Amino acid sequence: MTRKGIILAGGSGTRLHPLTLVASKQLLPVYDKPMIYYPLSSLMLAGIRDILIITTPHDLAAFHHLLGDGSGWGLSISYAAQPSPDGLAQAFHIGADFVGDNPSCLALGDNLIYGQGLSEALAKADGANTGATVFAHRVEDPHRYGIVAFGRDGRALSIDEKPQAPKSHWAVIGLYFYDGTAVERARSLRKSARGEYEITDLNTTYLREGALQVERLGRGFAWFDAGTHASLLEAGEFVRILQTRQGQLIASPEEIAFTSGWISTDDLIGHAERLGQTDYGKALMLLASEAAAPAK
Ligand code: TTP
Repeated sequence: MTRKGIILAGGSGTRLHPLTLVASKQLLPVYDKPMIYYPLSSLMLAGIRDILIITTPHDLAAFHHLLGDGSGWGLSISYAAQPSPDGLAQAFHIGADFVGDNPSCLALGDNLIYGQGLSEALAKADGANTGATVFAHRVEDPHRYGIVAFGRDGRALSIDEKPQAPKSHWAVIGLYFYDGTAVERARSLRKSARGEYEITDLNTTYLREGALQVERLGRGFAWFDAGTHASLLEAGEFVRILQTRQGQLIASPEEIAFTSGWISTDDLIGHAERLGQTDYGKALMLLASEAAAPAK
């Protein structure tokens, strides 16, 4: 069975007001590309090509306008509306027919992950046939996240959502791999005290069975939840600095599709031409020419 991807790109975006009063958060720019390109790239790096985008009824048309059916990047993209933001685990109620009993991966539309070895970490998570894999990253302010407590043997003992007394500084980031039982498990969840279907509750069903793998992403990784004004700017600066120094793109769906063999060199050149004289377009053109001649 092939793994299905979901990007959750709705929500209310209240921490980004007034930016998000009329524009969707996940369409805001993170330096040179719309925010949703980053989680989309994470799914693509994991080899996932069948993807459902869930957003507000109001924003569906804009996402469709940007991404279409995904075929230009060798993907199959479909869309569904979330009438109100009732929590992350609701993705598996809305996406129940799409996911069925296939393994899946849920990516939050405002999460940006970057680091050496990310593809390997994703491949490992993708390779697991049973249970769930989530990733944790160290944060300064654990009160705002789902926080994992680890035992001496390194296994996860508990996850607490936005704890008042955090047991660690390891936060669960917005990229979750599940086996084929996620839909069934999500159906059994009740809304939390704050009125949401909590992803932490879904993860806890696996944890209780000893079936939750928590992979710690160390200091070689960067993780941004670009949901506040400061983190949005920081994420953009991070991408700008790395891309400019290394002359390589971060989270380009065109590049990942090309290097994965999902689109041809001609397709890549077509994308580069459409992006015109931007640095993004030039980087894609360089990639196409390097594919013809060995890289320097
Ligand atoms: P959050 O950042 O937790 O929430 P939010 O985007 O509504 O923002 P704010 O806290 O500023 O009001 O959401 C994480 C991601 O999940 C983000 O990409 C929005 C998305 N989301 C949904 O699509 N549906 C939901 O029901 C929720 C809670 C979030």
